[in-house]
Amino acid sequence: MPETIATAVYKYGTRKLALTISEDRLALGSSEDAFEVSVPLRVIRQDVQEGLFGGIFASLLLIKPLSVEGDTFIYESLRRDALQLAVQRGLEGLKRRYSLLFQHLEVLTPFFYIAELSRYTRALPWIRSLASAMLSESGVLEWMSREVVEALSHCTDLPRAEQPIAWIRVAEVEPCSRGRPIGFADRVAAVGKAAQALVNLQVSIVAPFGLLAEGVKVRLHPLLRDPLLLARLGRCKVATKLLDFEDHLHTIIGIKEILSSARRESLIRSVKVVRGPIKAVVVKRYRDYTAAKWLAALVLTPHLPKPRGGPRSRMEAEYHYNTVLYNKGFLVPNPLLLDLRRLISAYEFVEGEDLLKLLNKSPAPPPYRDLGCTLAQVHKAGVSLWDANPSNFIATSRGIYIVDLEQARELRSVVEAAWDLAVATFYSIPFNISGATTRAKLIAEGYVSCGGDPGVVFEASKPRYALPFIPVSPPNVLERVRRTLLRIAGANGS
Ligand SMILES: Nc1ncnc2c1ncn2[C@@H]1O[C@H](COP(=O)(O)OP(=O)(O)OP(=O)(O)O)[C@@H](O)[C@H]1O
Ligand SMILES: [Mg+2]
Repeated sequence: MPETIATAVYKYGTRKLALTISEDRLALGSSEDAFEVSVPLRVIRQDVQEGLFGGIFASLLLIKPLSVEGDTFIYESLRRDALQLAVQRGLEGLKRRYSLLFQHLEVLTPFFYIAELSRYTRALPWIRSLASAMLSESGVLEWMSREVVEALSHCTDLPRAEQPIAWIRVAEVEPCSRGRPIGFADRVAAVGKAAQALVNLQVSIVAPFGLLAEGVKVRLHPLLRDPLLLARLGRCKVATKLLDFEDHLHTIIGIKEILSSARRESLIRSVKVVRGPIKAVVVKRYRDYTAAKWLAALVLTPHLPKPRGGPRSRMEAEYHYNTVLYNKGFLVPNPLLLDLRRLISAYEFVEGEDLLKLLNKSPAPPPYRDLGCTLAQVHKAGVSLWDANPSNFIATSRGIYIVDLEQARELRSVVEAAWDLAVATFYSIPFNISGATTRAKLIAEGYVSCGGDPGVVFEASKPRYALPFIPVSPPNVLERVRRTLLRIAGANGS
C-alpha cells in the first residue's frame, strides 16, 4: 500500500487545509498557504467508528473537499461511515431528549449532517471555520441532503424526493447499525487503545496556532448555532436560539408580546392569553411555580393514577395527546409554536366559555351532559385525561373543545376512566354547591348515553375517588353526588 492513500483539500479561510490519509504517518504542519494534516488510515478509521480521537480526524471527513486525490474509494467509504454514525448519534440524541415528541419530530434531510458538524464546532475550533465557510456556499444544503440520503440508502428508505431537501419523520429513519458511539467507560479504555494506535508511527507535529486562531474568531453559521432551525413538529413550528419564542410568536400573532409582562389567567394557572391582530393564542409555561400543584395532587391521590410532574414530560404529553385526539376528530386547540428548550408552548385561543366559568351563569349548564359524552368518546379512543376538571372543557358553537392535556395518557384501566369521571363530577362542587347533584346526573347520563361503560360510573362512585375532594367540599354534598353516580350506574345495570 503506497505511503499516501488519499489526500483531500479543503478551503480554510484564505488558505487551504490538506488531509492526507497515509499508511502510518501522523503529522501536523503548515506551509505558506496551507495547513497539512497526515493521519494513518487505521487511526482515522478508529476515530470515525469509535470516536477514539474525539472526532479530530473524523470531523474533517464531513467538510466538503475542494478536491480528493488518490484512493477516492477509501476516502468515500470513510465519509459514508462518518455520515452514518452522524445520523445514528443524531437519532440517539433526539431519542434521549424527546420521549413522546420523538414520533412527531420532522427534520429537513441535512439536519443530521449539520447537527454533527454543530457538535464538533463546540470542541474543535478549526471546524467552526471550515463548516461555516462550507455552509455559506450556495447549493451546499442540497449536496449535504444527497450525501445523507446516499449514506443511508441501504439502511433506510429516505424520500428520494424531487427536491433533494425534504422533510423526514425522524421516527421513520432506521439508522445503519454502525458500531455504537463510545461511552465514558470505553473512553478510558480508548485512551490506552489510542496511545497503542500511535505506536510505531512516524510522528511530526508542528502546532499550527494559525489553525486555532482562525477558527476561534469565526462567526458561526446560524445553522451550526442551532440545527433546530431545520426541525419542526408535525403540526407546528419549534422556537430556536436564533428566533426566540417571543419573536417567533410575533410572526404568528402580529404583535411582539413580552411574555414576562403578560397577565396570567389566574395565580394558580400557568397560562396567559395573548391577543394579536392576526391571532389570539394561549401561551403556557411548563417550568412554572404553579407546577407545585401536581405535588399536592400527588399527595392527595396516593391510591389513584399519578399525575405527571416534570415540565418537559407535561409539555410533550400536551402536544402528543392533543395530536392523538385531533387525529381522532376531537375538538382541540391547534398547537402553533413549541419552545423545546424554554418549555413554553402556544396554542390557538378557542372562543367560548370553559365549563367552570359557565357555573357563574347557571348551577347545572346543559353542556355538562356533553362533557360526560365527550369523556366517554375520549375513553373509547383509548385515552384518559387525568385532569378532567370542567375548566379544561370549553363550550363553543362547534361543540366541546378539550384543552390542558398535559396529564393525558393511554387509558389502561377502569381506575383511570373512573378517576376522569370523578374529577369531572367532584371538582366543581365548591364552585356551585346547589347544582352539584344535577351536574353529576348530567355528566353520568351523558357518559352512558355516548357508549361509556356504566361499570366506570359505578367505579367512580366508590368513596376512594371522592376522598381527594374532601378538603374543599362539604362532605354531605360530596356524599349526595357520590350516591347520584351510584344510582345512575345501578340504573344502567352496573
Ligand atoms: N386554547 C385555549 N383557548 C381558550 N381558553 C383556553 C385555552 N387553553 C386554556 N384555556 C383557558 O385557560 C384556563 C387554564 O388553562 P390550562 O388549563 O391549560 O392551564 P393550567 O395552568 O393547566 O390550569 P389547571 O391545571 O388549573 O387546569 C383553562 O381552564 C381555560 O379556561
Ligand atoms: Mg386546566
